Amino acid sequence: MRRLQEEFARLRRTQRQRSLELPRGIDFTSNDYLGFSSHPALVSAVRDALDETGSVGAAGSRLLRGHQPGHAALETFAAAFFGCDKALYFSTGFLANYALFTTLVGRHDAIIFDELIHASAKEGIHAAHARRFKVRHNDIDAFAAAVQRAKQAGAQQVWLAVESVYSMDGDVAPVEALIALAHAEDAMLIVDEAHATGVFGASGRGVGDGRHGDPRVISLHTCGKALGAAGGLVCACGPVIDYLISAARPFIYSTAPPAFLAFAVRRALALITEEPWRRHDLLQLSALARAKLAAVPGAVVPDTAASQIIPVLLGTEARALTVAGALRTAGFDVRAIRPPTVPPGTARLRISLSVERTEAEVEALAEALARALAADKAA
Ligand SMILES: Cc1ncc(COP(=O)(O)O)c(C=O)c1O
Repeated sequence: MRRLQEEFARLRRTQRQRSLELPRGIDFTSNDYLGFSSHPALVSAVRDALDETGSVGAAGSRLLRGHQPGHAALETFAAAFFGCDKALYFSTGFLANYALFTTLVGRHDAIIFDELIHASAKEGIHAAHARRFKVRHNDIDAFAAAVQRAKQAGAQQVWLAVESVYSMDGDVAPVEALIALAHAEDAMLIVDEAHATGVFGASGRGVGDGRHGDPRVISLHTCGKALGAAGGLVCACGPVIDYLISAARPFIYSTAPPAFLAFAVRRALALITEEPWRRHDLLQLSALARAKLAAVPGAVVPDTAASQIIPVLLGTEARALTVAGALRTAGFDVRAIRPPTVPPGTARLRISLSVERTEAEVEALAEALARALAADKAA
């Protein structure tokens, strides 16, 4: 207890302590990009599923009695939707990421990963016991050079790991070039489409739209963001999914996600096709928001940001907390993102757009940000 208290005191001193805060004000924070979490079609899909199955919990792991028709139907639908051989539904995206690296990567392999990859991938990468190569963010040449180093070091299999849209920077990975590199070098690419599924790609399948069936690509589509529900779908060729079912410990030794969630995710995937206007309007609003926020005096919005996630860099933890607090007081739900979630010295606001927001709300947010930055400068 004493160690925990000291550690917590250190977090407070460095303004890195975290606390729970209920949603309040206009949502510029959640990942409900398409407004699906409260979409009537998803709500009725869950109601119908509960009526049909008559059960709330799966009451067992997938390999025991927890595997239900709703899971099977989702996985068949998802494989067809993403154009891959097979799909596997995990209870969270975090667990899916962890399972991918700890199950598929052997100790004589090498993992080359982007320095800004999500914590869930990092946990898996560190637990995988393979050789690790961390490379400069979104730098395809750095990936190519690391592949050579990994091969010289005798790696049996080289794995490349990226996010397609980065969760805290809102920029987009060179997925096509990475797929080409994987083919040229006999490597495998794991691409986390968490913030792109439903939003990016010609048909809303993510940045790798049309490439999820490539045998060198394994993609992760989390279901708690644009899809409005919960869980994580892994898409891959048959042998990868078959092996995960037999060997992925987070899949095997955990109660199956409730089947009603699988119904909701299936409905959400269908809605991506039925209501394409949502992602089109979202991307249009995002471009407007990026321009408006970047024009605010003193606001640093990297010009690499190219999605519905807009970082406003503030540097120190204290500044990020003050400005986020002022925005919340003004009625906007905006949170400060601090290290270790982002690198030291890059504490920021993470403005996240939903299609449910309006241009007027974006303009009001930009005005409130201008006031908050001016007040912070004067203080
Ligand atoms: C890039 C990325 N991958 C994976 C996850 C984990 O997904 P889930 O929230 O479903 O556990 C997140 C969630 O924050 C994420 O941002």
